[in-house]
Amino acid sequence: MSNKLDVVLGLQWGDEGKGKMVDVLAGRYPAVARFQGGPNAGHSLQFEGKTFVARSIPSGIFRPGSINIIGNGVVLDPIEFMEECSNVSKLGVDPKEKIRLSKKAHLILPTHRLMDAALESAAGKGKIGSTLKGIGPTYTDKIARRGLRVGDILRPDFEQRYEALKAVHLREFKSLGFECDPDAEKGKWMEAVEFLKGFEIVDCEYFVNDFLKNGEMLAEGAQGSMLDIDFGSYPFVTSSSTTVGGACTGLGVPPSSIGKVFGIFKAYCTRVGSGPFPTELFDEDGETLRRVGHEFGAVTGRPRRCGWLDLVALNYASTIDGVSDLIMMKSDCLDSFDRIKVCVSYEVDGERTDHFPFDTTAVIKPVYKEFKGWKKDLSAIRDFNGFPSEFKDYIAFIEEYMGRRISIISVGPDREATIER
Ligand code: IMO
Ligand code: MG
Repeated sequence: MSNKLDVVLGLQWGDEGKGKMVDVLAGRYPAVARFQGGPNAGHSLQFEGKTFVARSIPSGIFRPGSINIIGNGVVLDPIEFMEECSNVSKLGVDPKEKIRLSKKAHLILPTHRLMDAALESAAGKGKIGSTLKGIGPTYTDKIARRGLRVGDILRPDFEQRYEALKAVHLREFKSLGFECDPDAEKGKWMEAVEFLKGFEIVDCEYFVNDFLKNGEMLAEGAQGSMLDIDFGSYPFVTSSSTTVGGACTGLGVPPSSIGKVFGIFKAYCTRVGSGPFPTELFDEDGETLRRVGHEFGAVTGRPRRCGWLDLVALNYASTIDGVSDLIMMKSDCLDSFDRIKVCVSYEVDGERTDHFPFDTTAVIKPVYKEFKGWKKDLSAIRDFNGFPSEFKDYIAFIEEYMGRRISIISVGPDREATIER
């Protein structure tokens, strides 16, 4: 029997603190793999007083001896990747030794990034609020069966293929009336493509399945389940499968290989970009969450929208993902509140429901349960029994509502500020 592929997923709208948790978990696995998304992700790792934001590179990169795989489901921007690798090198780690690239991962071209900007500006008020990293346009070309993949860089006619895809983009720029210099970054991009050739480029599906015969692996999700292309608040989503099935298609492993599914959520909610956010706060409480939680984008620097924990959305995501272990992050950010609210159902058009609505234009009114705040500093506590009773009540309520156990609680950014039960 083979070993299992454990999966760690964000259950909300991204930025749940996946970086810290993958970093904590990565030490237990000899390999970490990214299976979807691209440099739209920003996973902050903190160690030895340093901060590193992992974008395309799996968060296991700084763990001694670990193998880090960029799977076929990922979209890779050679320029961003090269820059990220240079930052890894500066911290004393050789990326070429530790990273494996899937031949089948799709490449983000400079014109994909321009297309992201062109489409967003054409969308006006209906814009998604994308990170402008070219994610949507690259996946569009993948599905349209004309994308370029990492394995293609070794073909003698690679540049012709590049020009052919660029020509498709130019036609679309013309019809959108979008003006740009499509070749402004071509030289730099081709240079970065040469840099990719220094890496081990693998058949990810064989590599991962072979690896699982002898060792365990952790699959690191990016974005969150509420941004999933199928199950998120479409069209205000990202363009990949961020839910558990994405780990199978994004690495080439069967569902029977999946072991634990760690579902990460914050003790409150945030969202960057547009789209429904039922528990969003526009008052002082929202400001406090943003300030205390440092809720500003790791990729774009945008202030994040903040609100109370939404159990309707969390339950929806956990069900789709088959979460075995819930992980609650940033609990300490609620320390100062007198009262803490949790959304337990919605009122949509005057009707109570516990389903996340299909219609993203629906007016959703959250129905809250209120808790008494604990008004104590959680960040120094290292033992579950040391938690204030009000906080234990908060945890117990979430667990009962979800029918799942919260097995890890984070009370601060450091690796040590992690309480396992
Ligand atoms: P991590 O991995 C938070 C959001 C964008 C936008 C929508 C689509 O750090 O949790 P895209 O560029 O993917 O086409 O944008 O998705 N988004 C994220 N929000 N964290 C992320 O990644 C995100 N990646 C994309 O803000 O609303
Ligand atoms: Mg992010």
